[in-house]
Amino acid sequence: MRVPTTELFRHAYGQYALGAYNINNLEQAVGLFRGNLGKKEKNDEPVDSTVAAPFILQISRGARSYTDKRFLEAIIRTAEEVFPEAIFAVHLDHGTEEACYDAIDSGIYTSVMIDASDKPFEENVAITRRVVERAHAKGIVVEAELGQLGGVEEDVVGSVHLTDPDQAAEFIERTGCDSLAVAIGTSHGAYKFQGPQGVRLDVLARIQKRLPEGYPLVMHGASSVPPEWVARINAAGGQIKGSSGVPEEDYLKAAKLGVCKINIDTDGRLVWCAIYRESFRDKPADFDPRTPGKVFMKEYARYIIHKNQVLGSAGQLESVRQFLSQKT
Ligand code: G3H
Ligand code: 13P
Ligand code: ZN
Repeated sequence: MRVPTTELFRHAYGQYALGAYNINNLEQAVGLFRGNLGKKEKNDEPVDSTVAAPFILQISRGARSYTDKRFLEAIIRTAEEVFPEAIFAVHLDHGTEEACYDAIDSGIYTSVMIDASDKPFEENVAITRRVVERAHAKGIVVEAELGQLGGVEEDVVGSVHLTDPDQAAEFIERTGCDSLAVAIGTSHGAYKFQGPQGVRLDVLARIQKRLPEGYPLVMHGASSVPPEWVARINAAGGQIKGSSGVPEEDYLKAAKLGVCKINIDTDGRLVWCAIYRESFRDKPADFDPRTPGKVFMKEYARYIIHKNQVLGSAGQLESVRQFLSQKT
């Protein structure tokens, strides 16, 4: 069941964070739905409510243009039928103004992100305000970004520029955006920190203090880049050196400071890369795309269960279901 993104935020606020997982293809989608229902091997296993979780499925502009955006939309609609117990939101990740309007009109997204964080403050305010007006008219909610993460955001190369708490309060007030992505020291990809720096929970705490009570924040660039998955990739011929990610113990600390949505894309790519490399290494005579695909869906489901456990969303599915039914 697709549900409004803000309803999930209301349930999570201050307690746990929702995993916001990027997908690009069918296998990622199936592994994601299975994992969020606690199904480790197959679609028709019973839901394991001890680990089942609400979640956010997100799609980047790159994912939309990889083949044709309608393929991913059809996968999501089909997953909704195959996994009727799932409770999830569908989100556009790092949208331009044009991509946001397209997503708003598509009928599948429950929220969009307008990312004008590379623009000067006043321009970011103006663009975000326009998107909020168009989205709210259709009952869709908007995530915006203020400050800049390190590294590369799609085709924007950002320099690290942490979110200013006073500006964040003004930005939310003037734009009416429903959630805010904050720059607190993370960056996208597998190389987040060089040396001892980490997530700036101190800056996050100052931002939370300046905002209206219960206002949902978003952490981008939140993959943990697990050394064990990187080691498996490298043992199977990969060359990922010097990678580092967000410590998983920071997720719940961030959740207590108002972060309701934690964006994870890179970790899913690492799992994908390890499984496919190992399959090609270990079965050199096999050329069936389903051979690595089957293993990947299973391993990804298990990884999602683990991730939800460290986010605190594991085991929340039935509580969210009740929360949503009381509202209708
Ligand atoms: O923020 C970036 C996300 O990881 C999406 O990456 O644009 O390569 O799909 P992508
Ligand atoms: P990672 O690269 O850390 O997975 O971040 C993903 C993200 O922020 C998507 O918007
Ligand atoms: Zn991001």
